Amino acid sequence: MKIDFDNLPRRECYQLMTGIILPRPIAWVSTVGEDGIFNLAPFSFFTGITSKPPILCLSIGSRRGRQKDTLRNIESTKDFVVNVVDETLAERMNQTSAEYPSYVSEFKETGLTPLPSDKVRSPRVAESPINMECQLLKILEFGENPNTTSLIIGQIVRAHVKDALLRDGTIDISKLKAIGRLGDDLYCRTQDMFEMKRPGSP
Ligand SMILES: Cc1cc2nc3c(=O)[nH]c(=O)nc-3n(C[C@H](O)[C@H](O)[C@H](O)COP(=O)(O)O)c2cc1C
Repeated sequence: MKIDFDNLPRRECYQLMTGIILPRPIAWVSTVGEDGIFNLAPFSFFTGITSKPPILCLSIGSRRGRQKDTLRNIESTKDFVVNVVDETLAERMNQTSAEYPSYVSEFKETGLTPLPSDKVRSPRVAESPINMECQLLKILEFGENPNTTSLIIGQIVRAHVKDALLRDGTIDISKLKAIGRLGDDLYCRTQDMFEMKRPGSP
């Protein structure tokens, strides 16, 4: 079957792309509003772009033609924190995707603990095993009103990693137990791994 995205409604394009591009890592993004309210929400159209300089990106769609809190906060403070979601945090991550009004902090709703960051105004999630403090570099906008999507590009200016996860300067993935997002409401664990050496490597 051949599929032409041009002729499909937005919802179907979304269903297809999220069923094809998987598993996706989850950026659990903490920010602060101009009113000082801490915000937290998950985004899985998320990836790294380059490691030197350390740059990542995530995409934030509009909601019924209106900006999501995360985008509004990033535009205002020019920073954000990406927190990693492990298996123990899955439920609370999902809870933070609910549509709370802007004046409600997802930290309070879920009982999560905001910690001050070192180099940015956005807080980080104490319960998360890894926090990446990011400075906004650029926002690219796609689509047409009211269905616009903003691609947030940011540079990691500081990372916090729980000591137990580090082994010889790298992350022990089997201990991290990160989760990924699949299509619909499905998620995956990262425990079913296999190793494959690159051609030519010892
Ligand atoms: C696992 C997961 C991944 C998500 N990924 C995205 C995404 O990539 N882009 C997006 O706009 N919304 C995504 N959402 C929905 C947002 O989290 C949701 O709209 C949230 O309410 C936004 O919160 P805010 O208004 O506080 O920024 C995702 C939700 C879940 C549960």
